[in-house]
Amino acid sequence: MCGIVGYLGNKNASEVILNGLSKLEYRGYDSAGIAVNTGSCLDIRKKSGRLAILADDVTKIKMDGTLGIGHTRWATHGEPTDVNAHPHFSENKEIAIVHNGIIENYLELKEELTHKYGVKFLTQTDSEVVAHLVDKFYKEEKDLLEAVKNTVKKLRGAFALLIIAKDRPDEIVAVRQDSPLVAGVAEGEVVFASDVSAILEYTRDIFYLDNGEIFYSKAGKNQIFDFDGNKIDKESVYVDLSLEAASKGGYDYFMEKEIYEQPRVIAETIERRLDENGDIKLDNIYISKEDLDNINKIYIIACGTAYHAGLLGKYAIEKLVKVPVIADIASEFRYSDPMIDKNTLVILVSQSGETADTLSVLREAEQKGARVLSITNVVGSSIARESHDVFYTWAGPEISVASTKAYTTQIVSLYMIALDFAIKKGTITKEYYRDMIDKLRGVSKKVEKVLDKKDEYREIAKKFIKSQSAFYIGRGVDSGLAMEGALKLKEISYVHAEAFSAGELKHGPIALLEEGTPVIAIATQSKLFEKMVSNIQEVKARGAYVVAIAQEGNDLVSKTANDVIFVPQEDDLIVPILAVVPMQLIAFYVSVLRGLDVDKPRNLAKSVTVE
Ligand code: M6R
Repeated sequence: MCGIVGYLGNKNASEVILNGLSKLEYRGYDSAGIAVNTGSCLDIRKKSGRLAILADDVTKIKMDGTLGIGHTRWATHGEPTDVNAHPHFSENKEIAIVHNGIIENYLELKEELTHKYGVKFLTQTDSEVVAHLVDKFYKEEKDLLEAVKNTVKKLRGAFALLIIAKDRPDEIVAVRQDSPLVAGVAEGEVVFASDVSAILEYTRDIFYLDNGEIFYSKAGKNQIFDFDGNKIDKESVYVDLSLEAASKGGYDYFMEKEIYEQPRVIAETIERRLDENGDIKLDNIYISKEDLDNINKIYIIACGTAYHAGLLGKYAIEKLVKVPVIADIASEFRYSDPMIDKNTLVILVSQSGETADTLSVLREAEQKGARVLSITNVVGSSIARESHDVFYTWAGPEISVASTKAYTTQIVSLYMIALDFAIKKGTITKEYYRDMIDKLRGVSKKVEKVLDKKDEYREIAKKFIKSQSAFYIGRGVDSGLAMEGALKLKEISYVHAEAFSAGELKHGPIALLEEGTPVIAIATQSKLFEKMVSNIQEVKARGAYVVAIAQEGNDLVSKTANDVIFVPQEDDLIVPILAVVPMQLIAFYVSVLRGLDVDKPRNLAKSVTVE
């Protein structure tokens, strides 16, 4: 949700910033802007549309200066127009700011600035108030840092901010409150960004800013303060992440690359958690057998795809650990007055570790005394840092908005946690534990086999490209999987896709079926297979075009469905990790065949840092 980059040093600031923004475009891509201090003025360029339009403008008319800030936007307040794009600036164009987050009290502040100080607002954004507030205090204080300190005290909400002033060509101020921000430092240089991927090309010495911190840089000297102006001593962290990991690596799309990375990253997620005896060791999880005995309820809370992984985690934990598990979406859970206490374990699942809804649940759960274990892909993310226990998926950077490798590694992580808890509690036998670990270790090879059949999936995708709607059905864990299949299709191909528990169809949804409506029927569960075959017959009888996904050997389904995708035989709990892959690729091909922007679907952003 919006990406920000700032630079102060000896390089051309606009080049560093545009390069950084290109790595952050996944966070928002409806408009972009940049402001550079030229020594005599703030040169501000803002364009609606993709970053390339702004880059084109900057190529044609160069921006000279070694201090600047930039932004790529996912609109919340005000349409994605040139004028609403960031940076925002004061009326005299002396102050420029970029903002990621939401200023919740902006209406109140706007009212005050308009009526008390006669400020004229140019945009419909919440962020513009920040530029005017800094300007007001700067005129009084004649000190940029002090002006920012006074400003942040008046703001409510979530904000990562970068601020520069026309007459301060060697100063930049950064603020973090509930929106991610990191600062990379090198000799005589500082680069700010919403995410380290935009910085690593310049330096690997990174300061992860915490909430309530202000990072002030002047002529190569850096200092950190809290909002009251107290100095904070903080060490930078050396980040050892490969740059290659965040590039397309020969594929045309990030999504495609990320789907094909699944065998490797699933293996990484598993192997890094096994000790020399092949037992699970959870490094950053400190939950003992005694703790587990006191836990009488588990919540798994997340959003979108991460929630869908949580649905599978619920099955696994209830089956293996024998503790009731409630899986819920973060935006609803938080306002449902949940019954949480010290005997509750809250498991949060979030690829980015920055999702605002999930982060809010974390804080509320901790306040109510619950223990919070998070599963996240981003080391140093807010959710990781604020949780009691953390399980890192080893998926590597996921750039495509549609989540794929994060999902499968989240499922694997939840299963490993379930197995670890269960063996500690004694609710499974050592034989079962060993057998499941072996099966998990074998899953990567089977995913490779599923990936080999991409031509088959492409052919099936052709049957979807003209459809208005598609349905996904399944039973048991497959009904959770159906939700993920439907989400993948709708978010990148804009085909209306809905998921139903197959047994529920006859209670209403079956009325939606028309001649030729595509239905993906997931029938991987041994115990439920025959029931699924009956459900397939029911939808087929109403004219649906059925694509079934089943385990090899279950040939009966070929007699009923129009097309069948067979996946290798596997344990019922694990087989969804195989079955989701064809659905990811079908969604991918539908999007490609429809000529859509696979990696940056309309209206979406990768990291949703607003509630
Ligand atoms: O970063 P998170 O895992 O917390 O993100 C949660 C959802 O926003 C995310 O999974 C979203 O649904 C994806 N676009 C799905 O592909």
